[in-house]
Amino acid sequence: MAKKDDKDSNSNSVIAEKESKEKKELSIQDLPGIGPATADKLAEAGFTDLMSIGASSVGLIVEATGMTETAVKKVINAARDSLEMTFMGAEQYDEKRKNIFHITTGVKAFDEMLDGGFESSSISECFGEFGSSKTQIAHQLAVNVQAMKNEAGEKGICIYVDTEGSFRPSRIRQMAKGQKLDDEEILRGIKVARAFSSDHQILLSEQIDKMIKEGLNVKLVIIDSLTSHFRAEFIGRGTLADRQQKLNKHMKTLAKIAFVHNVVVYVTNQVSADPAQFFGDPTKAIGGHIVGHNSTFRCYLRKSKKGSRVAKLIDAPNLPDAEAIFMVTEGGLKDL
Ligand code: GTP
Ligand code: MG
Repeated sequence: MAKKDDKDSNSNSVIAEKESKEKKELSIQDLPGIGPATADKLAEAGFTDLMSIGASSVGLIVEATGMTETAVKKVINAARDSLEMTFMGAEQYDEKRKNIFHITTGVKAFDEMLDGGFESSSISECFGEFGSSKTQIAHQLAVNVQAMKNEAGEKGICIYVDTEGSFRPSRIRQMAKGQKLDDEEILRGIKVARAFSSDHQILLSEQIDKMIKEGLNVKLVIIDSLTSHFRAEFIGRGTLADRQQKLNKHMKTLAKIAFVHNVVVYVTNQVSADPAQFFGDPTKAIGGHIVGHNSTFRCYLRKSKKGSRVAKLIDAPNLPDAEAIFMVTEGGLKDL
């Protein structure tokens, strides 16, 4: 009798343990086929929690660990299951979307076109010819994001990856003063790195995840320009596929940062027309489908009358195609 009781209580405790294990968040080593050595490899590649694994593609984890595709699929599915990253009710999805925020451009027409400004949890791309104001928008967002406080009252931080040497603290000061903000304080809220090659750019973007996990309240990541190093380094048709593959991987890293940490990612891109040649379409972004498909929001910028600039929304999931006109003034972007 006593034995039976023992057995019953034992099986009950097994059930209780299983339930509590299901409720408790799993760690990476609880995933199928992941031992300490593989967990280390994953960590080295930046996969330090279940969310990063659940949001990853199979190829990236195969590359990081040397596991087979089949094994990796099991790992990703287990991570997704434990995080309930599969189908969810649309009302639940709506709940998740409530955390999404927008960074204002400071221009009423531009914000209206974007339904409130540049949206978190996705990549927004502005492309256009030289002087079309891609970099000015980047500077303005770096200032404006800082008004976004988290629950602890900390301001939103901007991470700025500058690939062309066009970041100007003096320009940030002007824009801060344009809104009567403390310019020193605003400069402290921007973490800048100059990227000297596409590899360096990729490396820097991979560090951002770690900076956020260490507690930096990052709300905006800027890559200005996304494509210039790739364009310069990969010349000729033979290397085009390599370039596109690398660019694709880079954008997946950025998309993951945007999604996992709910931040705004703003990237700039050039158009294919080269002023030194007669060919090329001045309205066509470089990077082709890879960049286009990885950007959720795309704006084409062009110069217009009397120094104004026009932003045209050309690709957005739930917004109509529209145009917004603005001016770049000393104090920042303004309505016409
Ligand atoms: P590339 O990087 O060369 O492809 O161009 P871009 O699209 O990044 O151009 P950028 O954002 O640098 O825009 C330049 C335009 O902004 C200039 O043509 C100026 O009209 C304007 N601009 C830049 N700096 C200032 C400034 O300090 N004051 C004012 N009023 N306008 C500025
Ligand atoms: Mg620029």
